[in-house]
Amino acid sequence: FSYPMPANEPVLSYAPGSPEKKRLKEVLAELKNTQADIPMYIGAEEVRSGKKVALRPPHETAHTLGHFHAGDASHVTKAIDAALAARESWSNLSWENRANIFLKAADLIATKYRPYMNGTTMLGQSKNAYQAEIDSACELIDFLRFNVHFLSEIYRQQPISAPGIHNRLEFRPLEGFVLAVTPFNFTAIGGNLPTSAAMCGNVVVWKPANTQVYAAQMFMRILKEAGLPDGVINLIYVDGPTIGSVCFSHRDFAGVHFTGSTGVFNNMWETIGKNMHNYKSYPRIVGETGGKDFVLAHKSADPKVLATALLRGAFEYQGQKCSAASRAYIPSNIAEEVKKLLVDGINSFKMGTVEDFTNFINAVIDEKSFDKIKSYIDNAKNDANASVLVGGNCDKTKGYYIQPTVIEAKDPNYVTMCEEIFGPVLTIHVYDAEQFEKALELVDNTSPYALTGSIIAQDRYAVELATNKLRNAAGNFYINDKPTGAVVGQQPFGGARASGTNDKAGSILNLYRWLSARTIKETF
Ligand code: ALA
Repeated sequence: FSYPMPANEPVLSYAPGSPEKKRLKEVLAELKNTQADIPMYIGAEEVRSGKKVALRPPHETAHTLGHFHAGDASHVTKAIDAALAARESWSNLSWENRANIFLKAADLIATKYRPYMNGTTMLGQSKNAYQAEIDSACELIDFLRFNVHFLSEIYRQQPISAPGIHNRLEFRPLEGFVLAVTPFNFTAIGGNLPTSAAMCGNVVVWKPANTQVYAAQMFMRILKEAGLPDGVINLIYVDGPTIGSVCFSHRDFAGVHFTGSTGVFNNMWETIGKNMHNYKSYPRIVGETGGKDFVLAHKSADPKVLATALLRGAFEYQGQKCSAASRAYIPSNIAEEVKKLLVDGINSFKMGTVEDFTNFINAVIDEKSFDKIKSYIDNAKNDANASVLVGGNCDKTKGYYIQPTVIEAKDPNYVTMCEEIFGPVLTIHVYDAEQFEKALELVDNTSPYALTGSIIAQDRYAVELATNKLRNAAGNFYINDKPTGAVVGQQPFGGARASGTNDKAGSILNLYRWLSARTIKETF
């Protein structure tokens, strides 16, 4: 049964006077006036532990949206048991019946719950309407629909047979349960990691970041409404070390689908390695981790194209994308013009709450993040190797607001050229425009990460040189564009080196990781 390639979900504009804007405003008001009481979803149960954690919009920390019920090790065990209890019937359900649940969930978001997915993402994660729309509506819908298509393509791939012999491949789910651990910054990743594994017939324990719970539970309720059987995905709110110690020591642990920091992912590998002798099968370890994404401009670059790539790539969603442009190499011949465009651009950005749709910049996710970003900025203000070109103000009295900031580093190995900051901070380094090859070396060797990167150039030889020399410096490489905003089905997403296992979310490659094929030969 083949599902054709879908089209990408159209992005709504939320322009003044549009019906989608009016509806979203109503839903935002409704969500703000409701105190949510959010349970964990384990098997058929909604579990309220009584250990309540308040949910507050990062841009308005005096307001409470309600709370969720946090769990402990006993809830992890319960979630694993519920998953394993659901495993046999789920993995035996016909592929068409599994697929239709996820297609229905996509339709429910597109037609009915779009403002709720966007509203919970906007308030819970401080995303403006446009950034929410491309994430919690369009990308999430695309993941669901495209993965159904990709999986139907996998199931069709069969070996040849011969006279008297019939061969086939059976694409079995993994033998055990899959753990999905999802980050705050994309609701769509939160939706994709558990559903891509589940779609393949696996059962899942899903742990979102605490700062993603508000949108994650909304999606879980949509999956339930679409008919997802109890126990197939179990949503729990338990701290990482506790989840790790229970899941990674379990005999039926079959794999982890992770997006988050490189440090946490490294710890996972180590713990899983130590427990190797416990498992029935070698677990699948799939992760998308950090980035220190570059924009390299050649002396032939159009300064306006470069400035736009930097302003959008570095500052949309406050720079909290693993793909965000965070180090830029600017040739000396256009440096002054580009710096002016950056300063003017940043001075034109409005910053504030998500309810005012004219705000381009909102708050960063939480206090820990605010403090970390601020300390990088403060250090740059006091370091002879760097200077703050524009921005640099930080204020957490009402919410976690950090003004978009450009640091200019004289030293190409200055700390903010190398370390992931995960906030609205771009560091630029001006290089001698005649030393492009040297700049290529710097790009390749300054950071351990290799997630995304861009070359901005009009000279085709420069484009080709960069494409070849930077072959391993980015899993997603953009020519004359910002390094963010991969679209499912168009730009499969992921990187290698310290950025992860490069299993390309939103592509057929990722889904193979959640299947274990059996070859069946029959002679007659
Ligand atoms: N997939 C997201 C992007 O490309 C992270 O920006």
